Amino acid sequence: MVPARDSEVFLSIYKSLMPDVSPSLSLHRVLTASLLHRIAAIHKRCFSLYSVSMKNVLRWVLITGASDGLGREIARVLGSKGWNLVLTARSREKLESLCRDLARDHGVEALPLVADLSREGAAEQLYHDCRGLWDRQGGAVTVSFLVNNAGSGLFGEGVELGSRAFPMLRLNIIAPTSLCALFGRDMKDRREGWILNIGSLTANQPTPFFASYGASKSYIRNYSLALRQELAPFGVKVSCAQPGFIRTNFDENSGVKSERYRRFSHKNGMPAHRVAKIAVRAALSGRGLVNIGIANTFTAWFSKLLPLGLLSAILARAVFALTGRETARQKLGEDKPLIKD
Ligand SMILES: NC(=O)c1ccc[n+]([C@@H]2O[C@H](COP(=O)([O-])OP(=O)(O)OC[C@H]3O[C@@H](n4cnc5c(N)ncnc54)[C@H](OP(=O)(O)O)[C@@H]3O)[C@@H](O)[C@H]2O)c1
Repeated sequence: MVPARDSEVFLSIYKSLMPDVSPSLSLHRVLTASLLHRIAAIHKRCFSLYSVSMKNVLRWVLITGASDGLGREIARVLGSKGWNLVLTARSREKLESLCRDLARDHGVEALPLVADLSREGAAEQLYHDCRGLWDRQGGAVTVSFLVNNAGSGLFGEGVELGSRAFPMLRLNIIAPTSLCALFGRDMKDRREGWILNIGSLTANQPTPFFASYGASKSYIRNYSLALRQELAPFGVKVSCAQPGFIRTNFDENSGVKSERYRRFSHKNGMPAHRVAKIAVRAALSGRGLVNIGIANTFTAWFSKLLPLGLLSAILARAVFALTGRETARQKLGEDKPLIKD
């Protein structure tokens, strides 16, 4: 649909361009107006990306989980676009080496900050440390773009994992929530900013054997989209990217032992650099929920068509098949259906 105000503008342009065409050709007019509207929308998007890339010379981005995997690639993409970077994770050496590489390759400033975001109060400490940083000219570092990427999974049966899931939940939920609040408030005051939260395709349905991880990503999706509405009037753009499998060490770090599962995830995974490029571009152009890649977009769309109970039962079967686990039915020697809605 063409919004009322825009369509009026476009119709007046149309009239001035084609004064001799009879007003009775209304279908023709509407089609032309909507075509002009599409062209204007594409132009606006390109212009907003251009103006972000032109103005970012002195801009700073904070990326969590930047020592490896997707976070490292996001750092490379933004470094190549001229953003100055504050990179954080637990591995000091990896961060320092990446900062050196980015400064050398792109002439940007890159500063490492070590933090374990699964610890209580770590996000607040990170915010405090970040405010204490100075750039080369002696000015205070002001974060205009926050990328909440750090996250980990925890593979296994929910009841067996028990409280072992708590540090992961602090990393995947509490830390990004705190960082969004702290940096988001500053952005709101400045009437400008971008927040990119890395979610996952698993947010769209219950995910057996990644139960608390999947649920943490559902939280991130809904939180991001709600925050987006709250901050939009203040010029702050909040996005949530939902990748599917990515070729990183995520499975190993999440305790997936099955070689078959890892091979499957690697084979179907996207390269981290490609995911990073798509996510950054979408965030800077102000998109809300971003599925990464055609196959993942189709999966996200398809998963909306099925009842959640059925979807989670299918996923449980798939994990059993991939990991070679005994099903609960086999364990119990019963012949009842394994999972009911
Ligand atoms: N890989 C996938 O298939 C996939 C799919 C969908 C969504 N995602 C999401 O994408 C994001 C990045 O995942 P990835 O695949 O790049 O995983 P990864 O290769 O395991 O990298 C995780 C990053 O987070 C950091 N990190 C882990 N625990 C941390 C902690 N306690 N405190 C601070 N930093 C910590 C790690 O650095 P240190 O070890 O140095 O701390 C590393 O830089 C995550 O949010 C994940 O949920 C991944």
